[in-house]
Amino acid sequence: MLKIKEISKSYMQRGVVLNKLNLEIRRGSSVAITGPSGSGKTTLLNIIGLLTKADEGKVFFHDQEISHYSADDAAEYRNKKIGFIFQDHLLLSYLTVYENIMLPLMADKHAGKRSSEASDYALTLMEKTGISNLKNKFPAEISGGEAQRATLVRALINKPEIILADEPTGSLDAVNAEMLTQILVDLNKELGTTLVVVTHSEKLAKRMQKKMRIEKGILIETE
Ligand SMILES: Nc1ncnc2c1ncn2[C@@H]1O[C@H](COP(=O)(O)OP(=O)(O)OP(=O)(O)O)[C@@H](O)[C@H]1O
Ligand SMILES: [Mg+2]
Repeated sequence: MLKIKEISKSYMQRGVVLNKLNLEIRRGSSVAITGPSGSGKTTLLNIIGLLTKADEGKVFFHDQEISHYSADDAAEYRNKKIGFIFQDHLLLSYLTVYENIMLPLMADKHAGKRSSEASDYALTLMEKTGISNLKNKFPAEISGGEAQRATLVRALINKPEIILADEPTGSLDAVNAEMLTQILVDLNKELGTTLVVVTHSEKLAKRMQKKMRIEKGILIETE
């Protein structure tokens, strides 16, 4: 469903980060991407999510080239097809957990019609992730693990085809990391949501079907 063809990216101060990198991700699969700090993992996710433009190369989604999308088309692709989970949860401090979760729907012109359905879905997901009692709390009033689960629910609210997660368990203790990992694995199995997970955690990487590593600007399959 997603194809990255000969993507290159350099930064002035740093030089070459990605060097004609190729990647193909099948629908419904799960992929772990590892690699040392600074190897370009976040850069790669940002290119897939059209948050960063590559210097060279192409990105295809369902065989359609998307790397030349306008800002508007890129925003729509991100909002409809992709669920992002960043290492730092990025919940807005002045909105409640529930309001944060519903935020992606605000960007959708047709959300009005679907809002009660979306609200039900939000509550189901909050139930599943064990945060339904935190609906009306503000981010400052909940723990890091709870915030990470709220971020996951927010990433899922639009029923994305693919989840891009950057160190989703990086700031969590062992118990919360395991819980979030299990939720991701279930999601992949039950809803067929495709997962691309960047992680330093061997434990999380092992739970993905495919493991890859960025080395010298390209991806190598590892075991
Ligand atoms: N906007 C930018 N401007 C300049 N250099 C950048 C920019 N973004 C990333 N870099 C550089 O590109 C390299 C790759 O960064 P990237 O964030 O992709 O690494 P990473 O593999 O995600 O690392 P980490 O594991 O620490 O998160 C780094 O050397 C970084 O300093
Ligand atoms: Mg990174």
